[in-house]
Amino acid sequence: AIDPNFDQNREKVDTHNGHDVWGPVDEPEDLGIHGTHVAVDFDICIADGACVEDCPVDVFEWIETPGHPESEKKADPANEIQCIDCMLCVDVCPVDAIDVDAS
Ligand code: SF4
Ligand code: F3S
Ligand code: ZN
Repeated sequence: AIDPNFDQNREKVDTHNGHDVWGPVDEPEDLGIHGTHVAVDFDICIADGACVEDCPVDVFEWIETPGHPESEKKADPANEIQCIDCMLCVDVCPVDAIDVDAS
């Protein structure tokens, strides 16, 4: 599961689609965590898609990640600023790849 304390335990190494990327990143195998308010651990995501389908405000967009061992696309929190903290994505992800900081 994603580390809920990733913002203390990891370093910001990049930005992507207007959000932070938390390392370590070593493409294509290690992609890190994308987003801060809505954080997706790309190294855990298996492209299940439930988050993309269920988010009521379309926070997520697919991005291609060829060569990653878990899946060749990931749910990117491209519109995390629109999140309404419903927590649906956290509940439906089968591998607990998502952390939403609703506090
Ligand atoms: Fe979308 Fe709700 Fe997840 Fe926020 S908590 S990203 S609104 S599903
Ligand atoms: Fe990935 Fe979980 Fe969404 S596996 S596509 S973050 S439901
Ligand atoms: Zn991203």
